[in-house]
Amino acid sequence: MDGKNIKALFTENDQSQIFADFDALSANEKQTLLSDCASVDFSWLAERIQQFKQEENAAVKTIEIEPAPIVALPKTRSELAREKDARTVGEEALRAGRLAAFLVAGGQGTRLGFDGPKGCYEVGPVTDKTLFRWHAEQILARAKRYGATIPWYIMTSRANDADTRKYFAKNDYLGFDKEDVMFFQQAVVPSVDFNGKLIRADRGGLALNPDGHGGSLGALVRSGAIADMKKRGVDTISYFQVDNPLVTICDPVFIGYHLKQHAQMSSKILDKSCPEEKVGHICLQNGKTTVIEYSDLDEENMHARESSGRLKFWAGSIAIHMLSVDFVQSVGGGARLPWHLAKKKIPYYDNGNIVTPDQPNGIKFETFVFDALPLTEASVTMEVAREDEFAPVKNATGVDSAESCRQLLSNYFGRWLEAAGVSVPRNENGDVTIPIEISPLFALDENELKAKLPEGFAVGEKIVL
Ligand code: UD1
Repeated sequence: MDGKNIKALFTENDQSQIFADFDALSANEKQTLLSDCASVDFSWLAERIQQFKQEENAAVKTIEIEPAPIVALPKTRSELAREKDARTVGEEALRAGRLAAFLVAGGQGTRLGFDGPKGCYEVGPVTDKTLFRWHAEQILARAKRYGATIPWYIMTSRANDADTRKYFAKNDYLGFDKEDVMFFQQAVVPSVDFNGKLIRADRGGLALNPDGHGGSLGALVRSGAIADMKKRGVDTISYFQVDNPLVTICDPVFIGYHLKQHAQMSSKILDKSCPEEKVGHICLQNGKTTVIEYSDLDEENMHARESSGRLKFWAGSIAIHMLSVDFVQSVGGGARLPWHLAKKKIPYYDNGNIVTPDQPNGIKFETFVFDALPLTEASVTMEVAREDEFAPVKNATGVDSAESCRQLLSNYFGRWLEAAGVSVPRNENGDVTIPIEISPLFALDENELKAKLPEGFAVGEKIVL
């Protein structure tokens, strides 16, 4: 479509404000703005604006949900035997090269206030190890343990794709063979103001945002990643977020439960720390496994308790999933997942300036990967211990910050050292008081550490292994 037609289309759809200063733009700015504008799907946009109006006027009501069945942390002998069995199945799949690691790293990371891909954020308790490097070392160590290749697929977005690729190239692909790491971009969709008007992000562009991690299923298909997996004999995908260095990628136990149930998509959950904790809630809705995001759960369900006093919806999703390749192909190749609307502060271009509002001024549209759960025929929900699997970096300070993440990592490795008979200093809260960092390439778990730890290992002011 040429510039004239695009402008006419925008005028027809009551969006001519985007072209108000068009004549004053440079040739390059005109071209990039037109290219953004050409990507707008007006029938999609009309549906979203309609959805916004409906949601604004809808009365708040209690959602009809039930707790989901959960594979709880094993305690009894039979539960431990079941876990051992799952591990064996998962380990066989790993040895057979059936697994891929899949990282969603297309988010904008606005809460962290870090200028760059979030994966480049440094979170080593002792060293400057980045989130990307934690993940890379773990995948490489697990692949080595099982004598197989685990290819790594990384979803980026328009804003961070070039910087992500640059970081990997500069750092020798973090130890991977270049052909075993594949990057691809998720799609973007336009944001609008509360009147449904498209927004200019700068002189030469519209305000576009990544289409949410739900966009990953379509992007896996479109990019050729699924075809590449099939060529490699991969049939199971270990899905994880960039922000959590404690995630167990390609966890044999989780793989085992998922495969034994012939599940299409499975999830890890933990016991929520409080009713308001900002995690999704795994539950059953109309008999189907579903995640209700923290922002969508009504007060009544959020605070509901069992007669034992335990929260009824205690199962918090930590966004760690196992997916079957065939399932991704069928969902990702078909219709998109439902759209979620969020009121956000969207920077906009105004008269030569980029204005950063201090109040929400518009709506971003996103899809969520967990909305694929109700589409499954079988799904496993597995409980994990918070201290073993969840140390996310989401905020610049306080809860879920780099500081809390480093402490949780030191505590985690401190427990491994204690299990190996080393005495580790702790304060009255039980936190380890020295920074401890153990590379997955040195030890992938407690037992490997025990086997490798030199005799008479002494604790100093910090530990790096
Ligand atoms: C997310 C989950 C929440 C879960 C919590 C656990 C959502 C909506 N909520 O919350 O249920 O309990 O993590 O930590 O996801 N991403 C993309 N593309 C996008 C948007 C996000 O790749 O368009 C990636 C991010 O890079 C990140 C992950 O998805 O790796 C999570 O995104 P984020 O927006 O930070 O979700 P949270 O609100 O932290």
